[in-house]
Amino acid sequence: MVISMQRISAIQWRSWLFLLLMTWASATATELKAPSLGVKERTRRVLSLEASEPYSFSSEDFKDYFYEQTLDHFNYRPESYATFKQRYVINYKFWGGANSSAPIFVYLGEESPLDNYIDAIGFLTDHAPKFNALVVFIEHRYYGQSVPFGSMEEAFQNASTLGYFSSSQALADYAEVILYIKKSLSAESCPVVVIGGSYGGMLAAWFRLKYPHIALGALASSAPILYFEDITPQNGYYSIVTKDFRETSENCYNTIRQSWSEIDKTASQPNGLSVLTKKFKTCFPLNLSSELKDYLETIYNSAAQYDRPPTFPVSAICSAIDNTSKGADLLSKVFAGLVAYKGNQSCYDTKEFKYSTETKRGWNWQRCSEMVMPIGRGSNDTMFQAAPFNLTNFKQRCKRLYGISPRSNWITTQFGGHDIELVLKRFGGNIIFSNGLRDPYSSGSVLKNISDSLVAIYTTQGSHCMDILPELPDDPKWLVMQRNQEIKIIGQWIKQYYMDRLANH
Ligand SMILES: *[C@@H]1O[C@H](CO)[C@@H](O)[C@H](O)[C@H]1NC(C)=O
Ligand SMILES: *[C@@H]1O[C@H](CO)[C@@H](O)[C@H](O)[C@H]1NC(C)=O
Ligand SMILES: *[C@@H]1O[C@H](CO)[C@@H](O)[C@H](O)[C@H]1NC(C)=O
Ligand SMILES: *[C@@H]1O[C@H](CO)[C@@H](O)[C@H](O)[C@H]1NC(C)=O
Ligand SMILES: *[C@@H]1O[C@H](CO)[C@@H](O)[C@H](O)[C@H]1NC(C)=O
Ligand SMILES: *[C@@H]1O[C@H](CO)[C@@H](O)[C@H](O)[C@H]1NC(C)=O
Ligand SMILES: *[C@@H]1O[C@H](CO)[C@@H](O)[C@H](O)[C@H]1NC(C)=O
Ligand SMILES: *[C@@H]1O[C@H](CO)[C@@H](O)[C@H](O)[C@H]1NC(C)=O
Repeated sequence: MVISMQRISAIQWRSWLFLLLMTWASATATELKAPSLGVKERTRRVLSLEASEPYSFSSEDFKDYFYEQTLDHFNYRPESYATFKQRYVINYKFWGGANSSAPIFVYLGEESPLDNYIDAIGFLTDHAPKFNALVVFIEHRYYGQSVPFGSMEEAFQNASTLGYFSSSQALADYAEVILYIKKSLSAESCPVVVIGGSYGGMLAAWFRLKYPHIALGALASSAPILYFEDITPQNGYYSIVTKDFRETSENCYNTIRQSWSEIDKTASQPNGLSVLTKKFKTCFPLNLSSELKDYLETIYNSAAQYDRPPTFPVSAICSAIDNTSKGADLLSKVFAGLVAYKGNQSCYDTKEFKYSTETKRGWNWQRCSEMVMPIGRGSNDTMFQAAPFNLTNFKQRCKRLYGISPRSNWITTQFGGHDIELVLKRFGGNIIFSNGLRDPYSSGSVLKNISDSLVAIYTTQGSHCMDILPELPDDPKWLVMQRNQEIKIIGQWIKQYYMDRLANH
């Protein structure tokens, strides 16, 4: 999940600190290393603090509610009837009301507490005034305050309590909450448009396919619904990270590509790890070269995934690498890139991305049950060292962690994905798949128009989930155009709906 450096507001920064306070070291997080999803960036950059600016709206416009949610929607055993409180928030400010059948925009929560993204998502509130729309955000089960079994500790106890934590249960939750809101506001005739980003974008697309009677349409931003099984090449993600760096600077790309073996070589020399510890000013003495390499890799991934104006972290890293003095050795160049990204710090915490967070904890379970996204790379096909995705190995590790084996074919069984153009050409409609091609996850997204109303709207310069971030005065023209196109299409869905309703009465 998140944001250009400039876009990280004070509020978001606070929620970051909150997240950090909530963290604890965990073996599970490190064992299942993978690029994170999410609208919001989860790495921290000192630079981001420098240019924070307030948003045009605040979460104060939202009223808090809790829905008494069913634990298990899919069977009728007595224990399935247990309930938990699911959080959702509503902004009534712009709503035209039930009598005018004014639309309802619903943001489908993703893999983190609602408070983490509500201020980061601008799309609904920015465009609600034009549509007189009601704005709703619903929190995903097992995150934030929407936790079954009374507490996080109980809910995450073991696979018996985690078993109700799935995308299908989450979609059914959203269906219930939306219907409940409509009923309580006598808004049965109001069209609903669901919106989501990243994993939440997948949910939005799937929701429209599964619940067309509840959602008129879906905006699925940066939703890699095709990164399952063998639909997308394993190295799709890292190929785009590599392309982003290479397009920015051939020299930068070469420097990074060569740095991994240089780090290994240095580490293997006597005292080599302390040389690296010093050179990279790491906060803790390095025990393995992989501690440094994983850290750098996460930073490059994140820079590419959230490569946004006005600061463009990939360019920032590459300028620093390219700009080091002539005689500088390879590792000094790489270090200069690190400093450009993180800022000038007294030390660099290579464990920074390994501390457990609510998101990591929840997402690890999701990956080990159904969200098996085979992201990897071979030798020499990206700027990184080989790290193929090994399903056998992955399953073993999940088994060790949770006592269950991932159902790696379930997502495509439940929602499809193979031959998506052929399958959806004559089924479904009203979904926008939006992307920015500099986003590594765009490799697993829908980038072709499938039919008149299943459309792909992408920008070549954009990165992860940019279109649903809050509008800013200095947004690039291509981003403004992308949003306008999306708004126009959503407007057409709603107009058509009103016409169809009239014709039916
Ligand atoms: C909506 O319509 C109902 C029934 O026609 C009416 O009683 C009510 O006053 C209307 N509400 C508003 C806010 O106009
Ligand atoms: C999970 O924990 C509960 C309570 O300790 C226990 O009764 C149950 O058998 C456990 N389930 C598994 C799969 O370990
Ligand atoms: C190296 O291992 C020590 C002892 O386990 C640990 O305290 C330290 O944080 C480790 N260093 C890194 C960079 O992870
Ligand atoms: C390049 O380095 C010079 C001298 O160290 C510095 O003045 C300049 O700001 C740097 N440029 C960039 C783009 O980092
Ligand atoms: C980075 O910070 C150190 C002090 O922590 C300072 O000595 C050094 O000059 C700073 N470097 C830059 C490039 O600002
Ligand atoms: C990797 O690529 C380089 C340059 O493209 C080539 O010279 C080298 O043989 C390749 N190595 C492997 C292991 O394929
Ligand atoms: C995948 O992992 C398993 C278990 O760790 C191992 O036996 C196997 O050799 C690995 N396969 C490949 C292709 O590396
Ligand atoms: C899909 O169709 C829309 C018009 O409905 C168009 O604006 C867009 O560029 C098309 N996308 C692609 C990838 O061709």
